[in-house]
Amino acid sequence: MTDIDSLRSEFKSQLAEVRDPQALEAFRMFYLGRKGKVASLFRELGAISREERPRFGQALNELKEFVEAQIHEKEESLGTKITQVNSSVDSTLPGVRPRIGGLHPITETIREISDIFVRLGFEVVDGREIETEFYNFTALNIPLDHPSRDAFDTFYTTRGHLLRSQTSTVQIRVMENRKPPLRIIAPGKVYRPDEVDASHSFMFHQIEGLMVDDRTTFSDLKGVIHLFLRKLFGNNIQMRFKPHFFPFTEPSVDVDISWGKGWLEILGAGQVDPAVFEVVGYNPKKVQGFAFGLGVERIAMLKYGIKDIRLFFENDLRFLRQF
Ligand code: DAH
Repeated sequence: MTDIDSLRSEFKSQLAEVRDPQALEAFRMFYLGRKGKVASLFRELGAISREERPRFGQALNELKEFVEAQIHEKEESLGTKITQVNSSVDSTLPGVRPRIGGLHPITETIREISDIFVRLGFEVVDGREIETEFYNFTALNIPLDHPSRDAFDTFYTTRGHLLRSQTSTVQIRVMENRKPPLRIIAPGKVYRPDEVDASHSFMFHQIEGLMVDDRTTFSDLKGVIHLFLRKLFGNNIQMRFKPHFFPFTEPSVDVDISWGKGWLEILGAGQVDPAVFEVVGYNPKKVQGFAFGLGVERIAMLKYGIKDIRLFFENDLRFLRQF
């Protein structure tokens, strides 16, 4: 009887040490196998007197049941049924990889451009997509008879609003609310009723830039734009400024970059027109600044070698997954 008791307590303390299914299986064989500890005690039954045998046999059966129950419990707690050979779950197979979304190439391009300007001290601001004629045209010194005001060139709502056709609107909204010095860029969607083809869409993205201080000169504009283009396209990029006209900047330029054997127009820019400063209540004799505006799709198409603007907006995952 002492053998039975000591085997029970030995079993209990050893079981506590078992940590994995393989060890548990070896442990089970050690106790319950044909040549195991419990079986060897059963073999001793024969050597015990008739009177003692039932008591000893019963104690032995209890021990066996106890050992079986304990091992079963341990099996459950280790989470694996060793005896369950044809389990339908193979926990060693690799899992199904969840599909992780990515950023749209236009978002990527906006972020890349914004990062460059943020490092130059510019702040990213938001504007509105539904605007009034005042912010889209009048405040930007665009005369009443300018062709861009025409319904062929701007989407008007039936209640006297419009979908902004340029992000230059944000210049006005920011200057109305803040005093110089300021440096902002404003990325966002713009809308124009253009016939859709490989290079036109009725909706696309622009980034507007504006810097105003007491002495922000044309050479500041040139320096900032050059730095920006080198960061975006690499140090070997060349640029050239061509005289141009925009109602809200004076003087104004179109900026080209060297591309292949020729030049490509990439953005419009200029010194903020005094008339614009007057609209927002700035004194044109005391402040100076520059503004610029660029098309995001144009830049993304150049950077990634995309030939058709429509690809950006078709939601074709075969295209989008490449970015
Ligand atoms: N708003 C102009 C456009 O949509 C782009 C532009 C040109 C913005 C010159 C500017 C600028 O701020 O100075 O074509």
